[in-house]
Amino acid sequence: MCGIVGYTGAKNCIPVLIEGLKMLEYRGYDSAGVSFLDGKCIRTVKAKGKLSNLEERLEASKLGEMHCGIGHTRWATHGAPSDINSHPHSTEMVSLVHNGIVENHAEIEAFLRQKGYTFVSDTDTERASKLIDMLYKETKDPVATLFRASAAIRGSYAFGVIFSDFPGKIFAIRKDSPLIIAKDASGSFLASDIPAILPYTKEYCRLDEHYVAELSRTDIKIYDENANVSEPKYEVALWNSEQAKKGGFPHFMLKEIYEEPSALESTIERRISNGLPSFDETFPDNILLESIDEIHVVACGTAMHAGLVGKYIIEKLARIPVNVEIASEFHYRDPILKKNSLAIFISQSGETADTLAALRHAKSEGVPTLAIVNVFGSSLAREADYVLYTMAGPEISVASTKAYSVQCAILYLFAAHLALIKQKITSEAARSLCEKLRSELPRAVAATLALNDTIHQISTKISSAEHLFYIGRGIDYQLSIESSLKLKEISYIHSEAYAAGELKHGTISLITDGIPVICIMTDSSLAKKTISGIHEVAARGAHVILICSADIQDEHALPDVETVILPRTEPLLYPFLTATATQLIAYHTSADKGIDVDKPRNLAKSVTVE
Ligand code: G6P
Repeated sequence: MCGIVGYTGAKNCIPVLIEGLKMLEYRGYDSAGVSFLDGKCIRTVKAKGKLSNLEERLEASKLGEMHCGIGHTRWATHGAPSDINSHPHSTEMVSLVHNGIVENHAEIEAFLRQKGYTFVSDTDTERASKLIDMLYKETKDPVATLFRASAAIRGSYAFGVIFSDFPGKIFAIRKDSPLIIAKDASGSFLASDIPAILPYTKEYCRLDEHYVAELSRTDIKIYDENANVSEPKYEVALWNSEQAKKGGFPHFMLKEIYEEPSALESTIERRISNGLPSFDETFPDNILLESIDEIHVVACGTAMHAGLVGKYIIEKLARIPVNVEIASEFHYRDPILKKNSLAIFISQSGETADTLAALRHAKSEGVPTLAIVNVFGSSLAREADYVLYTMAGPEISVASTKAYSVQCAILYLFAAHLALIKQKITSEAARSLCEKLRSELPRAVAATLALNDTIHQISTKISSAEHLFYIGRGIDYQLSIESSLKLKEISYIHSEAYAAGELKHGTISLITDGIPVICIMTDSSLAKKTISGIHEVAARGAHVILICSADIQDEHALPDVETVILPRTEPLLYPFLTATATQLIAYHTSADKGIDVDKPRNLAKSVTVE
């Protein structure tokens, strides 16, 4: 949610900032801007719309080489996307880029108006920039200014600031929004996320909350909250810059779907030892897991849908009741959290504000918290009591695909682990499941990818639809929910997921001639009932598309409709194959409609505001 970059050093910082912003565009892309220190003069260029608009303006502005600057790609919170509302927000002395929300912007504005300040934009950030301007004029000290600004501001922020009195320097502070700093031989970098610095270095340091960073060409200084100098603690990124590029695919989304077999392999391999699920690194003993008799899974969007698959498999194998909840609801409804509960928070980015707020709530209630995250060292990973990392590698496309698959995989293994601890399955059964996940699953997902052309043909038939239904029963219904979200978020087709058996209780009235109904049917035990549902909607004119397992094809007389047969595999693994197939449906539908697949309208990948 908004991407920030900064660079000061020997290189021309215009391309450095633009390349960095490109890597962070997934965080927001409704407008972008940059500010440079040209000697003691602040120069700012901003443009509404995609980054390419900013590039054109920069080209036209004929700026020479710049060596110190900050940049921003925006996801609007306060004020519509426009040139004027784009960041940076500058005064003569100060220029600011911001990720987060200044909650008390109205109070700050009222206070600053009394001091003679006026405002041109609708943004909370302009209020913050003018507060920083005022505080700087009082102190003439950028570090003290940022500490004072941080004390006065309520909300979340990662700030990158340049001051005209300090050529060659960038200052930063953060709370609740991520910010990393890094150095190479040429200079120093500031960024919201790792991909922006990967072309230059793999070493980075996460700025602690309320600490101030002072970046110069040769040096990075960190000040703790008491203004004492603190040593930066460097970590090494596990991803390289190649992984964060498209690698010949037309879109990141397609590349990321094709990475599923290897992402699954890496995630699963790490969690199996001696043929059995292994969580010893995270839970060195079983005391906690033995005691839990209830699980809450809390997350947002696709990660929450992985939780639905987790509920299915944990309840099936370990017989522990699981409540799956949207983070923004969980947090504010005062949930009943029993003593022996475990709260699991799932997130690709580890920075989703709603999920983080829910985690803090669970912690304040004394419930043990486990984070399942993809980004190492992210806020959720650091704040949860226990962490399990998924090994999806960088996921850039806004629509989450491989991250979902690996989240489901880790939940399968965790379910088997719990089931063993609770003595609900034998070690032979756990061993057999591990073996299937390890050796069979990546192969079966790769075989599903081989159906790409067939799936593409089917997608062309739904691309002109305005409304569509995904239906299924049992686990296939849980997969329908994610499949439907994937399709609507990137193809803009209104899609609803329905439990196949529930349609007849109301929604079937919406079935009219030609409306696409995509039916997922991989659970043999429910196939007869699902087939009846297909006949019911087909009789009312629906254009039915069936996604069906090879086993069901063998055992049942399938309705005469367009069908994708998923490769034969172990029944428990079908959810993964379904996910891949329906991700491809969403992808092709979106791409064929000419939509910017990786950056669908109004969305952002990492939503760091509540
Ligand atoms: C946003 C993204 C979704 C994602 C959700 C949760 O809404 O657009 O694709 O599933 O955030 O993100 P997380 O990083 O917590 O998994």
